[in-house]
Amino acid sequence: MISSQALAALRRTLAEERVLTDAASLLHYGRDWTRYIEPSPAAIVFPLDVDEVRALVQWARACGVALVPSGGRTGLSAGAVASRGEVVVSFERMNAIRDFDPLSRTVRCQAGVVTGALQTFAEERGLYYPVDFASSGASQIGGNIATNAGGIRVVRYGMTRDWVAGLTVVTGTGEVLELNLGLNKNNSGYDLRHLFIGSEGTLGFVVEAVMKLTSPPPPTRVMVLGVRQLGDIMAVFGHFAGEARLQAFEFFSDQALAQVMAAQGVGAPLDERWPYYVLLEFEAAGDAEEARALAAFAHCVEQGWASDGVMSQSLAQARALWRLREGISEAITPRTPYKNDIAVMISQVPDFVVRLDAILSRDYPDFEVLWYGHIGDGNLHINVLKPQDWALPAFKSACEQVNRQVFELVRAFRGSMSAEHGVGMLKRDYLNVTRSEAEIALMRGVKSVFDPDGVMNPGKLL
Ligand code: MLT
Ligand code: ZN
Repeated sequence: MISSQALAALRRTLAEERVLTDAASLLHYGRDWTRYIEPSPAAIVFPLDVDEVRALVQWARACGVALVPSGGRTGLSAGAVASRGEVVVSFERMNAIRDFDPLSRTVRCQAGVVTGALQTFAEERGLYYPVDFASSGASQIGGNIATNAGGIRVVRYGMTRDWVAGLTVVTGTGEVLELNLGLNKNNSGYDLRHLFIGSEGTLGFVVEAVMKLTSPPPPTRVMVLGVRQLGDIMAVFGHFAGEARLQAFEFFSDQALAQVMAAQGVGAPLDERWPYYVLLEFEAAGDAEEARALAAFAHCVEQGWASDGVMSQSLAQARALWRLREGISEAITPRTPYKNDIAVMISQVPDFVVRLDAILSRDYPDFEVLWYGHIGDGNLHINVLKPQDWALPAFKSACEQVNRQVFELVRAFRGSMSAEHGVGMLKRDYLNVTRSEAEIALMRGVKSVFDPDGVMNPGKLL
């Protein structure tokens, strides 16, 4: 908790009405989508510009109070949860989009710009911002950068990191840095921009970013295929990747589908139910691409990798198929899922999933385990649903027991313990699955340079 003097100084730093301490605001802004850690912030503040963010950092250093950044609060690793009397800095009111540069195809966004607003901005100018996920309507650019958000089109367009041309940050010492200046080419030493991307607010706050835009994709089609065996999914991927320009390659299990069908009242995509489904989207500017993709599908069926399939004939059908995949996270939220977000190299996925399935079937016999994710990137989301009669702490510790086996396997495959959701508080104890002790020590060293007083989102990542 902060002292009354510190609170009074905070109210002098920012206009009174932009410092909230009521219970509803503390709960709302004190947490993200995770429900495993109780929020307990001291106050929520709403800066309007870079200078105010800087003043807040200086206040935090002077008063010895930690700051937690808050974007759209759609994170899944408790990276934006304030559980120890911190002050939450919401970027909600810093949401301007400006300095559109059509020739460079860049635009400057304040941290609080909602992802969907940037997508619409680009679309209205005949361009495209390709990083996309189910939470695009709520997530903010600053949070996307802080977590290097991925999503459903990484297979074609990469992660948020690939779309950041410049960054303005306020470090933990209250310094304002302009990183990479929006340049396309800049080989002038260490690229500190990339240090801040994915740093989860532990080095400083992202306050503005110059984002890259691109040409819109050609028309696309969506296919959903029924698959009998997990191990066959990557055979489908390998074949389609050679035959079509893939925009997305996702998968989900029948259990995951059942959750979406029940929550949203939608029907199954195919006449029969299959243990797994692949959802792929491919570019189809004309009939030739479509014919090639249909031939690829026929080949997958001949090989026994896929059993049945459907292809969208309209935008509405494409959206309906996507809902089956994108609706999973929201459909299972009431079940307080324990989430794993892991990745291995694409070529390792077939062996990895078979081994992982054996562990999960053995160690989670009593829980419902859902598989889905961006398998074309090597990224799997394993979600364990909490039975209604289990208390949250007992359920969490049961899942953590199984984690040991899961993460040993990830380590053995030289994979990532957090492919896209970030480390936050929930995965912090597993960082050494993917990072060596030497790397972690260097990361701590970097943190102490940018945040010597430890006021920037402490307890997250490290
Ligand atoms: C997704 O792929 O649906 C998102 O990462 C959210 C989730 O994993 O639940
Ligand atoms: Zn995901």
